[in-house]
Amino acid sequence: MFSENGRKVKIAVVGLGGRGRGWVETFLKMKDADVIGICDIREDRIQETLKIYQELGVTCDVMTTTDYNELYQNPEIEAVVNATSWQVHHRVTIAALEAGKHVGLEVGGANSVQECWDMVRAAERSGKFCMPMANVCYGREEMTLINMTRKGMFGQVVHCEGGYGHDRRPQIGWGDELGHYRQLNFTKRNGELYPMHAIGYISKILGINRGNRMLSLISVSSKAAGQHEWYLEHRPDTPFANQQINQGDIVNTVIRLANGETVMLTHDCTLPRPYSRSGRVQGTKGLWMEDKGQYYLEGAKAFEGEERACWHDFEEAMSEYEPKMWKEFRASGKSGTHGGMDYLVGRAFVDTLQKNAIPPVDVYDAALWTAITCLSEDSVSTGGFVAVPDFTNGRWMDRGEDVCTTAFSLDREV
Ligand SMILES: NC(=O)c1ccc[n+]([C@@H]2O[C@H](COP(=O)([O-])OP(=O)(O)OC[C@H]3O[C@@H](n4cnc5c(N)ncnc54)[C@H](O)[C@@H]3O)[C@@H](O)[C@H]2O)c1
Repeated sequence: MFSENGRKVKIAVVGLGGRGRGWVETFLKMKDADVIGICDIREDRIQETLKIYQELGVTCDVMTTTDYNELYQNPEIEAVVNATSWQVHHRVTIAALEAGKHVGLEVGGANSVQECWDMVRAAERSGKFCMPMANVCYGREEMTLINMTRKGMFGQVVHCEGGYGHDRRPQIGWGDELGHYRQLNFTKRNGELYPMHAIGYISKILGINRGNRMLSLISVSSKAAGQHEWYLEHRPDTPFANQQINQGDIVNTVIRLANGETVMLTHDCTLPRPYSRSGRVQGTKGLWMEDKGQYYLEGAKAFEGEERACWHDFEEAMSEYEPKMWKEFRASGKSGTHGGMDYLVGRAFVDTLQKNAIPPVDVYDAALWTAITCLSEDSVSTGGFVAVPDFTNGRWMDRGEDVCTTAFSLDREV
């Protein structure tokens, strides 16, 4: 699974910030992948990326350009990994699909429901896949959970929660100097800006787009105080200190599903806090809570003869229910950023290309998961539930053969 001895795939990376450069390095280190094209609107980012080739001693011919359309005309490139800023994610993806390239789309949210439909149509017309690079789906904890829920250990799952709790105030606050898109997005928008880390694995647990679907959602935003205070403290003499910030510090989004479950996402990036995705999976026989690092199964008692219910460390569950993929990954001696999940999702992408297979997550997931952002903005502004489109056009009820069956599948026992 991790021998890296398949057909050598030829990839391009668009958007060469921290994440895009990470992808270049990850793929260049794989024996069966080449990064033969790189693109960023900033020439300095291209130059920084070329240093990675030198550092790794890679001598392959690499096309460099500031225009992604030019890159897409290169017939040698079979797939594009899109790590651009959120505003251009979908248009960079749609152009690649229309040019006949498969796409790996970095996590982020959409600007409009229309661009999500355009992305779906472009993939359907071209026959090329668009796979969200949803790395958290391949986390050890998350994959163990997917396994445990599939074995029915939590009973019928009724409710899931997750989020993005990451103190991003410095990155937002220095965004003009860093050239980082978060600053503008947090100033102008107000909604669930970063849904994918949580909704990815939750979708797998609840079968979303594969037997289940999202019906509607409602988002409620708190006031925006954290970033403003940060500006007052760190950049008091700049216009930022007096600027209105739209993004609420905490945005909670509740999603209703066709099979009756609820999902709550929490976006939390402008208050002081340690990092957490704050997951919770709860069913008729037990629950898991990420921030506790623990889980509970009905009947587990603190002491023999006592009635007090008892938590168990999730570490124990991981050693018992860790999926085969993770056992093999650890045994392979390979490593990857974000605790290994970046390598695994990168491998899933390469494997899908090599086998010309159905990707583990697809364009319908990409459209739905990213649409949460613009739908939540609508909900925050109107104060009510908004309907969630069915990007599969009814196929969610029975995907038939249209499901990934490779070793990287997230839809069958692994
Ligand atoms: N999966 C994860 O764990 C993870 C972690 C960090 C970032 N990300 C995602 O990766 C993406 C990039 O994040 P980042 O932190 O590297 O941001 P960044 O701002 O550092 O990099 C984005 C790059 O895209 C370039 N760009 C913008 N428009 C472009 C265009 N039209 N053509 C070519 N290049 C263009 C910018 O110049 C910039 O260099 C985002 O979608 C982010 O959400 C994912």
